[in-house]
Amino acid sequence: MNGWLFNRRYADGMELSPDGSGFIPVDLPHNPVDLPLSYFDERCYQEVSCYRRTVPAKTAVPGGRLVLRFEGVMAVARVWLDGTYLGEHKGGYTPFEFDVTDRLGADSPRVLTVAADATERPDVPPFGGQIDYLTYAGIYREVYLDEYAPLHIKNVRLSSPDPLAASPDLEIEAYAGSGLPSPAPAILTASVSDSSGKTVAERSFPVTVPAGGGVLRSVLSGLGRVSLWSPDAPALYAVRVSISPAAADPKIPADAFETRFGFRKAEFRADGFFLNGERLKIRGLNRHQAWPYVGYAMPERAQKKDADILKEELAVNLVRTSHYPQSISFLDRCDEIGLLVFEEIPGWQHIGPAEWKETAIGHVEEMITRDWNHPSIILWGVRINESMDDDDFYSRTNSLARALDPTRQTGGVRYITDSNLLEDVYTMNDFVHSGGEIVLRGQREVTGLDRDVPYMVTEYNGHMYPTKKTDCEERQNEHVLRHLRVQNASYADDRVSGAIGWCAFDYNTHCDFGAGDRICHHGVMDIFRLPKFAAWVYGSQVSPSEKIVLKPVTVWARGERSIGGVFPLVVLTNCDTISLQFGDYEPIHITGREPTLSHLPHPPFVVDTRHISMEKIGAWGMRWEDLRLTGYINGKEAAVCRMPKNPLPASLTAAPDDSVLSSGEKDATRVVVSLLDQYGNPLPFADAVAAVSLSGPARVQGPLTLVLRGGTTAFWIESSGKAGVVKATVSVEGLAPASFEVRVS
Ligand code: GAL
Repeated sequence: MNGWLFNRRYADGMELSPDGSGFIPVDLPHNPVDLPLSYFDERCYQEVSCYRRTVPAKTAVPGGRLVLRFEGVMAVARVWLDGTYLGEHKGGYTPFEFDVTDRLGADSPRVLTVAADATERPDVPPFGGQIDYLTYAGIYREVYLDEYAPLHIKNVRLSSPDPLAASPDLEIEAYAGSGLPSPAPAILTASVSDSSGKTVAERSFPVTVPAGGGVLRSVLSGLGRVSLWSPDAPALYAVRVSISPAAADPKIPADAFETRFGFRKAEFRADGFFLNGERLKIRGLNRHQAWPYVGYAMPERAQKKDADILKEELAVNLVRTSHYPQSISFLDRCDEIGLLVFEEIPGWQHIGPAEWKETAIGHVEEMITRDWNHPSIILWGVRINESMDDDDFYSRTNSLARALDPTRQTGGVRYITDSNLLEDVYTMNDFVHSGGEIVLRGQREVTGLDRDVPYMVTEYNGHMYPTKKTDCEERQNEHVLRHLRVQNASYADDRVSGAIGWCAFDYNTHCDFGAGDRICHHGVMDIFRLPKFAAWVYGSQVSPSEKIVLKPVTVWARGERSIGGVFPLVVLTNCDTISLQFGDYEPIHITGREPTLSHLPHPPFVVDTRHISMEKIGAWGMRWEDLRLTGYINGKEAAVCRMPKNPLPASLTAAPDDSVLSSGEKDATRVVVSLLDQYGNPLPFADAVAAVSLSGPARVQGPLTLVLRGGTTAFWIESSGKAGVVKATVSVEGLAPASFEVRVS
């Protein structure tokens, strides 16, 4: 639902007063306060705001229901309709509903009022202690008015007990509602179609829906050969479950619930993770769902783009939704592109008193019942991230998760050792590596158990070595090496299901964390999702048949590193061999990859004076030359990277991720701005100022004057709901401006 009115400050009784003064029109997803990129006081959005919207006159069909559904309001929502209190919901990351069937009138519209409390109330998870991320204010996800027929399906849980069978079954658990006064004989019809839209199975079952509703179970047995869902081939099936009265009745129309399903078997064992019966080493990154300026309030396209960046640019096979359930659009995209997900309840280190725990247990249910059909999700996180043991509390979260979804294992992220294992998987933030010999602890050392258990490393690096895109080459090189070493150690040990690095993208945070600028520079990409060198640690692990990667970890300058030179030069690549040519010298072929990182799918090459003598590449005081780095696959030249000896600003580019936005709902796309050298590389230490001008039905999120930190930056343009053409120009003094158009249709 769009078309809201917003007042930054809720005052007692606002739900009773029709006075519109102080309200401005807004659409969802909405952020009450546009934030600076850095150095802001995070308390500026921690207020109670008021949203108001007229809900048109509407009546449900007799026996039907009208339900208001909120996908996410930070952090406590109190809701009224025409001044009558409907209730409240605690927690900003999970959905909630109010039945308004008897409250919406046939005659006149009603006024919906929401007080959205973004203060960090200690009675609500994740609050009560310190947290290393921001919980941005507002109604930042969608709101719907759902209309249900007298017999309806509210939710469906799908499962396949043996998806690897020659002809698997699909079990259906339909949560039916009924507004009929007595048990109703009905027909439940389930149909399954493949990605081409072809129906592969359709069957009807006679059922009786109890008055008030109940759970209806049925099985589509023997579906024949199905395509399995996997990261390489994420086959999705559309499933439609409908219900209609056994005897046709015009007053009781059929109602249907549509969802998607993927046939796959995911299993964490003591000897590793197995997908569809085959060992798969998990190589992942953690993701916060936050963006510069607007915080969480990003529409579907941007959510999906994050999943695409993780899969395509960072080539990880899993994302952990640290530290809360993330947007449905993000998870939908993970299903579509084959990106595994570890999803967890909101929280960070702190466990509150009894009422707080009850709310957290509610979050377990809200998360699982919202997301149980996503094939991408392979593990539920049912502990507060990095909290102490609390066996009573975590016995409850575990048994609830298992009761709601017996098909998935549970995990719960801790940093403590010898923690009581109530989950199926011991999920551990192992920050032991700080550059020395020790890279990962042995799992028995961590668990304190005398046997192996399913085990996964859920964070490493992060605060141990914060690194900015503009940091000096030596630091960035060490950042690269630390990510390489931990992944290598994970690959080396079959008992480690995998390792999930901290983290994908830099993120704004509280003053108790980060670099003082309110940013944790822990990402392998910056806050704009632009790569640091460490991004290619992950990006280069992909098969060359998908994408060829060749990235030297250098800015290619004589005098950037201490003492000068570029050795040892790490080359992140999935090519078989490389050659390095310095100026006009003969190219030097390098065939041996780094032996200490040999467990990785594609260990890097490390070039140093073993390969090229100081006489050739020269010492301080000698001429510097161009680099021509070539990657070969099967003996053939497959990729070339050239870096100039005398980099100069040669061109400015402004590239939108999308050329078309939609006009109906809020929509947004990123524009990447780069200042490039003669060979098309971003100038790594440039900090030019760029001015953005824009016309048409969109706005720039954040400022119109940008600093190209390290030669690149980005901004997002947000459509305003109207159709038209957005024309934009980015200018940097002394260079030809970069222009682009985006159509909003
Ligand atoms: C962990 C925590 C993360 C993040 C990280 C930084 O302890 O779980 O949220 O703060 O440290 O390295």
